[in-house]
Parts: sequence; C-alpha cells; structure tokens
Amino acid sequence: MSFAAYIKQHPSLKRLALRTLMPAGEARPRWWVRNLLNPFLMKKGKGAKIRRRTRMDIMPFNNFRLGAHSMVEDFACVNNGMGDVLIGDHSLIGIGCVIIGPVEIGNNVILAQHIGVSGLNHGYKDISIPIKNQPCETGLIRIGDDSWIGANAVIVAGVTIGKHCIVAGGSVVTKNVADHTMVGGNPARILKQYNVQTGDWEKPLITR
Ligand SMILES: CC(C)(COP(=O)(O)OP(=O)(O)OC[C@H]1O[C@@H](n2cnc3c(N)ncnc32)[C@H](O)[C@@H]1OP(=O)(O)O)[C@@H](O)C(=O)NCCC(=O)NCCS
Repeated sequence: MSFAAYIKQHPSLKRLALRTLMPAGEARPRWWVRNLLNPFLMKKGKGAKIRRRTRMDIMPFNNFRLGAHSMVEDFACVNNGMGDVLIGDHSLIGIGCVIIGPVEIGNNVILAQHIGVSGLNHGYKDISIPIKNQPCETGLIRIGDDSWIGANAVIVAGVTIGKHCIVAGGSVVTKNVADHTMVGGNPARILKQYNVQTGDWEKPLITR
C-alpha cells in the first residue's frame, strides 16, 4: 500500500495531512504548497501557459495536467481538491472560468469566458445538517476534443460532452451531449446536429 493510500485510510492522519496542506475550511492550499510544491507537481506540456493572475488551487494528492500549448487565462480558478483536473493539448480555459475536478478536457477545446465546470456537488439531503457540513459528491465531467463551450455556460457534475460539440453561451448543461451536437438554453436542449449525409448542421425536427 502506498503512503498516500495509507493516509487516506486513516481519518485522523488524513485530517492532519489536509491541515498541513490547507487551512481548515478553505479551498486554497497554503503558501508553501502553492509556491514550493506545486511548481514541481503540476504537469505542464511543452508551451503550456498558466497566466499569472489565475488561482490554482492544486493539491498534491490529486492530479493536475495541462497539455502542450494549452492555456489557462487570467482570473480563471482551477481546483483539483476533490478530483483530478486533466486538460489536453491546444486547449483554452478562458478568462474567469472556474474548473473544479474531477474534470477531463480533451484536445483543441475552447472554453470561452466565465464558465463553470464543477465535478463537485454539495450533499444536501439531510435537513438537520447545514449543506456546508454535508459530504460532497463528485461526478466526472468530460469535454470531448474540438468542442467549444460558450461564455457563461455551466456544466454540471457527471455530464459528458462529446467531440466537436458546441454549447451556446449562457447554457446550463445537465445531460450528456452526443458528438457533433450543438446545445443551448437552461436546461440545455439540442439546437443543431451535424448530418453526415448532407454535410450540414441541421436543427432537429422536434426540439422539445
Ligand atoms: C450557439 C451559437 C454559436 C449560435 O450558432 P448558430 O449556428 O449561428 O445558431 P443560430 O443563430 O442559427 O441559432 C440556432 C438556434 O439556437 C438558438 N440559440 C442560439 N444561441 C443560443 C443561446 N445562447 N441560448 C439558447 N439558444 C440559443 C437560436 O435562438 C436558434 O433557435 P431557433 O431554432 O428556435 O430559431 C451562438 O449563439 C453562441 O451562443 N455563441 C457563443 C458565443 C460566445 O460565447 N463567444 C465567446 C467567444 S469564445
């Protein structure tokens, strides 16, 4: 059993390890983690860039990877505390986006501005406990290669967006999206799909 797995299995050791890495009740790692540890732990491909004014809440017990020539723009926030954040090559995380793992983003993906992609949900079912004190649940979000997510969209936990999809600006995506599909609205519905026979993007006959 690895050292990390051993710590994870012992709640008191896990609490102690967490407090060493991050102040209680906060999502941001301590100064020494951000500045001394993370530069060595964050896996960045050739030419990948993380702008200076980002907030990278990267914890050493989960993975963060930014592929070659990908970019995390200013004012974005990336958090892998609850799950890995893996970003492929030539992808863009636009200004002001918030990415909370577990999240997998493919290659050549564009996330425009102010998009919320959170693989984390707060537990809410027990009405005798404040939501903030209930255990969080996670659901992996996947965004396929070549997709474009419009500004101010929200992708909820557990959703898979296929390859070469478009999510219209301001949409809330609550269900999986098949390859080559454009969705929009709240909750997001299919707006167009690529038809291989006609070679064109077509509106569905029945949209709702
Ligand atoms: C989705 C988008 C690309 C439009 O693509 P398009 O092929 O030109 O689509 P159309 O204008 O033909 O619209 C198709 C349908 O989608 C609807 N639609 C378009 N944008 C929508 C949106 N943001 N939310 C909900 N519905 C939308 C249209 O009203 C239309 O509906 P209808 O079939 O009932 O008439 C564009 O509206 C969009 O949202 N772009 C994102 C812009 C952005 O975030 N830019 C940041 C720069 S990276």
